[in-house]
Amino acid sequence: MGTAHVVWHESTVSKQQRQQLYRHKSCVLWFTGLSGSGKSTLANAVAERLYRLKVHSYVLDGDNIRHHLNKDLGFSPEDRAENIRRIGEVAKLFVDAGIIVLTAFISPFQADRQLVRKLTEEGEFIEIYVECPLEECEKRDPKGLYQKARRGEIPEFTGITSPYEEPAHPEIVIQSGNSTVDEAVGKIIDYLKRASII
Ligand code: ADX
Repeated sequence: MGTAHVVWHESTVSKQQRQQLYRHKSCVLWFTGLSGSGKSTLANAVAERLYRLKVHSYVLDGDNIRHHLNKDLGFSPEDRAENIRRIGEVAKLFVDAGIIVLTAFISPFQADRQLVRKLTEEGEFIEIYVECPLEECEKRDPKGLYQKARRGEIPEFTGITSPYEEPAHPEIVIQSGNSTVDEAVGKIIDYLKRASII
């Protein structure tokens, strides 16, 4: 569409300068996993820890973004791809702004996640697979959606009538059924320290 006559305006304050100001680097912490696996809980817990460490971060969450920015999108593979593409672009802006952005979306397709990885620079995209067996997510069913999906009331529900492709090479794997939120947060913070991001 119409970008032919749009000239890119380079920002005068660079990403590097913002990172120097904040005294930490910026990156995307991309949480992926089934609905009910614990992505939002973990993302928010990590954001809380980062806040206490005086690190600038922000959480983008599936349910919230879908009520606003992406309210025109449904759950067909095409709409999910567009959902993730837009979130990827927004996440990239946050990284440019010097902020650690945490995204909590099912993002079930490898190709869509790969596309976001390619938007960012080497080492900036940290894929966190929140691994949790479907049976466990279904047992938790915090929003009662699995029950509805089983009754045929929600078409194309991830894990039931729509696929979830596990990440092939995630930077971090959290088995949310086998670890406490605190342990998982510790693992992610350790990763950020080892990668000299914070
Ligand atoms: S994604 O697949 O496009 O990444 P996203 O994370 O934005 O999904 O939204 C998932 C949330 O939408 C779920 O946690 C659930 O609350 C709700 N939802 C509604 N319909 C569906 C569906 N068909 N499949 C999965 N989640 C759904």
